Amino acid sequence: MRILVTGGAGFVGSHLCDALLAEGHTVVCADNLLTGSRNNIAHLAREPHFEFREQDVCRPFDVGKLDYIFHFASPASPVDYLEHAIETLQVGSLGTMNCLELAKIHGAKFLLASTSECYGDPLEHPQKETYWGHVNPIGPRSVYDEAKRFAEAVTMAYHRYHKVDTHIVRIFNTYGPRLQLNDGRVISNFMKQALAGEELTVYGDGSQTRSFCYVSDEVAGILALAKSEEHEPTNIGNPGEFTILQCAKVVLEVTGSQSRIRNEPLPQDDPKQRRPDIAKARRLLGWEPKIDLRTGLTMSLDYFREAVKASGAGA
Ligand SMILES: NC(=O)c1ccc[n+]([C@@H]2O[C@H](COP(=O)([O-])OP(=O)(O)OC[C@H]3O[C@@H](n4cnc5c(N)ncnc54)[C@H](O)[C@@H]3O)[C@@H](O)[C@H]2O)c1
Repeated sequence: MRILVTGGAGFVGSHLCDALLAEGHTVVCADNLLTGSRNNIAHLAREPHFEFREQDVCRPFDVGKLDYIFHFASPASPVDYLEHAIETLQVGSLGTMNCLELAKIHGAKFLLASTSECYGDPLEHPQKETYWGHVNPIGPRSVYDEAKRFAEAVTMAYHRYHKVDTHIVRIFNTYGPRLQLNDGRVISNFMKQALAGEELTVYGDGSQTRSFCYVSDEVAGILALAKSEEHEPTNIGNPGEFTILQCAKVVLEVTGSQSRIRNEPLPQDDPKQRRPDIAKARRLLGWEPKIDLRTGLTMSLDYFREAVKASGAGA
């Protein structure tokens, strides 16, 4: 197949490009490098079935005949979407509509990278796909949450009204090599601080929970969903739940760091609990994650060591 990956120079998108190339497809990666990096795809420079196009997908564009579109373009970490608030709303709305138009024109299948943030600060735990969420529509995080909720709505509309073969994955916290070091997410923060010998910052008392999915598990789930007949949103994440404090301790253990933990006030609208219910993915796709947090962090250690060295942190 000839496949377009938007946001393919980002963290998850670049791993997806690798996996699609490994399956023998031709991949066109469209990315405006807003939060992504050429470094993430540098290893593909001489790959004959890979093409990079520097492209803002909020502007109408065409890359020729396509069989599949994976729409992953969007700032994703709180640091990035708070800094690029309007761009986040644009790529979730205009960008998604442009990509759906391309899918319609070329008769291509379409998969939207959505997010667990659609559940907001959830009142139901763990979160099933049938839960409609508890989202503050005007809070600071709304630029991301509501953009993705709109993206889901317009994807379903193209499916219903234009018969585009669409899929929606709700990605839960994913980590691994190529995660941006300074994106403010729990794993990158802790790994950076631990490896640089700085204190680990825990917001609040650290009793809020998160679940973390290693990137190869996430991509395997996304590919299984892409090949399925399922059109409604499907959670792909790791249901292993950790308090932030437990997570900090695993990071200290894996890195062998002597760093101490420092508590800071909780940011506004910070979700207290996040854990995917993956019963639907297990049932429909026969998928479940294989890599636990300790193993995944160990597999990411070399990348984070290099990234910390390159950043000069702790030097
Ligand atoms: N990483 C996670 O834990 C996670 C969780 C939930 C959802 N997601 C979703 O997965 C997708 C990828 O996330 P990520 O963690 O890899 O983030 P990322 O920031 O590393 O990647 C996003 C990519 O999109 C590109 N981009 C942004 N706006 C663009 C535009 N207008 N045109 C073209 N390219 C644009 C960026 O330059 C970047 O390369 C996002 O849609 C995100 O919402 C990720």
